[in-house]
Amino acid sequence: MRTRSSSLLLFGATGDLARRMLLPSLFGLDRDGLLPERMRIIGTAHTTLDDAGFRRSVTDALEQHGEIGRSSSDDMARFLSRLSYVQLDVRDPRQFETLAESVGRTDEPIAIFLSTAPSLFSQTIMGLADAGLAGESSRLALEKPLGSDFASSCAINDVVANAFSEARTFRLDHYLGKETVQNLIALRFANALFEPLWNARGIEHVQITVSETVGLEGRAGYFDGMGSLRDMVQNHMLQLLALVAMEPPGRFEPTAVRDEKVKVLRALRKVGPRDSVTGQYVAGAIGGAAVAGYAEELGKSSDTETFVAIKAHVDNWRWKGVPFYLRTGKRLPVRRSEIVIQFKQIPHSIFGDAPIQANRLVIELQPDENIRLLMMAKQPGLDRSGIRLRQVPLDLGVTDAFADARRRIAYERLLLDLIEGDPTLFVRRDEVEAQWTWIDAIRAGWTTSVTTPRPYAAGTWGPSAAIALAERDGVSWHE
Ligand code: BG6
Repeated sequence: MRTRSSSLLLFGATGDLARRMLLPSLFGLDRDGLLPERMRIIGTAHTTLDDAGFRRSVTDALEQHGEIGRSSSDDMARFLSRLSYVQLDVRDPRQFETLAESVGRTDEPIAIFLSTAPSLFSQTIMGLADAGLAGESSRLALEKPLGSDFASSCAINDVVANAFSEARTFRLDHYLGKETVQNLIALRFANALFEPLWNARGIEHVQITVSETVGLEGRAGYFDGMGSLRDMVQNHMLQLLALVAMEPPGRFEPTAVRDEKVKVLRALRKVGPRDSVTGQYVAGAIGGAAVAGYAEELGKSSDTETFVAIKAHVDNWRWKGVPFYLRTGKRLPVRRSEIVIQFKQIPHSIFGDAPIQANRLVIELQPDENIRLLMMAKQPGLDRSGIRLRQVPLDLGVTDAFADARRRIAYERLLLDLIEGDPTLFVRRDEVEAQWTWIDAIRAGWTTSVTTPRPYAAGTWGPSAAIALAERDGVSWHE
């Protein structure tokens, strides 16, 4: 039986992710009575603070994120009473003893969340182990980036594995916590309708787009040198692809689901030189407002891509010959994440010349959650000059259908799963390694072919070569 954690150690508790996502998520869970009754949350960071100062800083973070107005003072008081703080320099092993004292009984289940720079992971994990905080009942959650290539990711995973078994390691990909991403699993495996067509016989191609309007957002230190391929494709987009392409798992449980995903990731074909396009935004406009180019934001020129489009293939029976077009970029015209399943055309039309568009399933992950199946229907009329057909959407309207359900941010789900010890929506080591193997080969190809990003104006859909990548197969990106 899975045990619920009696304490949560949050490393990097004063950092940006903790303030924007983790603490508001924990607060939301607590308000809804979902946290274990006596679970304590111990924040640690390098910043000098005492318990009272930490509670003030958390109150301030909740205020900034609009949580306080929605809550009662009792909610607030209960949450704050869970919090304490240990100032910690992870480079000093002795300071972990103070942390262990603060935790108290280390044989009780502890959830540990590392929301710090990966360069600190190794010392943190050794410090935890030496202080007896990495015992059989402790679980460790890690935020990306877990390395910048296969080798560095292995190095991090090896350090983790020295102290935490794989079953106790929870690698986060926040896309897996998104409601619509899980809905994709429900759509595929709770409906009989799609599965018979969900293969190369029924599907022409798949598109996965994650477009963002934001630029560097002050993250130059991390993003420059990393680029969109490693920031977005290596993790979020490959996880989406794996969920679309995987075989039905026997059950919705951690091993079965992750076994199926990793098979897909290992079946990804090496991307040829013509099958990827990179770009970097130059000055342009988004939503009518002028925005600077990447190099201007950065203050220097750079070869880092802020856009990438890839034509991928999954080499197995199910997906033989079906291209998966992936694209992601910063400073694109809209913020939108979606998966488009383009079904094949009907084999023969009985309607003469009346144009018929093939069915298309559009799964919108954000900003709106929506699933639409585009179908052909007859236009009303007496049809004296022949039947007229039109494509109309069959709309699942997820937001309306479940209007009474509160939409939770991805981290709420993932934090609760961590606290309860359910790793289904976390990424296993073999998946991460398969992802990096594929990504490293793409980067090696770029080095060999001396690929540098092509400029695109901010507010456009990337370089024209990305449009050509799809169009030479007769495919248009869904916009
Ligand atoms: C992060 C990337 O993992 O995902 C960011 O590092 C990106 O660059 C973000 O902006 C996008 O997440 P979401 O949930 O806003 O789509």
